[in-house]
Amino acid sequence: MVSPRVALSLDGPVAHVVLDRPEARNAFDAATVHELHDAVAAASARDDVRVIVLAGRGSVFCAGADIEWMKAVAGFTREQSLADARSLADLFETIDRSPKAVVACVQGAALGGGAGLVAVADVAVAEESAQFGFTEVRLGLVPAVISPYVVRKIGVSAARSLFLTGERFTAARAATIGLVHRVVGLGELDAAVDERVRELLQAAPGAVAAAKGLVRAVAGRSPESVRELVCKRIAERRASAEGQEGLRAFLEKRKPDWGQISK
Ligand code: COA
Repeated sequence: MVSPRVALSLDGPVAHVVLDRPEARNAFDAATVHELHDAVAAASARDDVRVIVLAGRGSVFCAGADIEWMKAVAGFTREQSLADARSLADLFETIDRSPKAVVACVQGAALGGGAGLVAVADVAVAEESAQFGFTEVRLGLVPAVISPYVVRKIGVSAARSLFLTGERFTAARAATIGLVHRVVGLGELDAAVDERVRELLQAAPGAVAAAKGLVRAVAGRSPESVRELVCKRIAERRASAEGQEGLRAFLEKRKPDWGQISK
């Protein structure tokens, strides 16, 4: 399954979604946004896929918005510009709402929308030399569409500082603010991503989707306001086939068999 700007391939339960425009450092243009959306949506809809690895081919993960695309968008009518922004919003929402675990694999740079992709992923692993930045203000813009996901991930303090300066920052700082979860040395990225994927594959697929939804549901809310919601969620999981199998396997001192049961 190959398309011009984004490649989707399957390796057992793992879908690899790869930005495939290294000559433009995997920058987003309208076609890339659509293809990336469709690749993530297709992988998300498959029962046999449990993890989506999001990567960029070449030396750079993603250089953010494509300069030529930005030039074109600058001449759009307001309605055209809104429609274009909405398709970018659809992409981020599709990743955020995917029932699969999404792992970002970051080398070189993740700038603007590229840093947004890192923020919306569930797990992010970066090479120590990678640079990050919400650089939009330096072009007179704002990181608007990605902001809900970034602010949710790194918090208001880091977002205000980094959105306003547009400065580039290191993988070590990205880890400190919670944008990435693991920083590895040169040449260690693929092995580190594989290790994260192995961890994720031990989890029950339905529980992964439920855990992702749970975080979305409780984030930013008071414990009192989500009391009933969280009680319902655990009651559902306890009664689910996965919940029953997980407990049975633990008591029988064997590995759970997630393949044989419904979620
Ligand atoms: N849109 C379109 N093309 C881009 C691009 C972008 N955002 N970023 C890089 N490219 C292209 C360059 O124009 C260049 O094309 P050319 O070979 O035809 O001249 C090619 O990618 C290589 O760029 P270069 O800067 O030499 O690559 P690098 O590996 O040394 O550095 C980056 C990579 C990503 C750090 C650097 O290109 C960069 O800072 N790009 C701008 C990122 C940016 O400001 N994005 C906007 C976010 S809102």
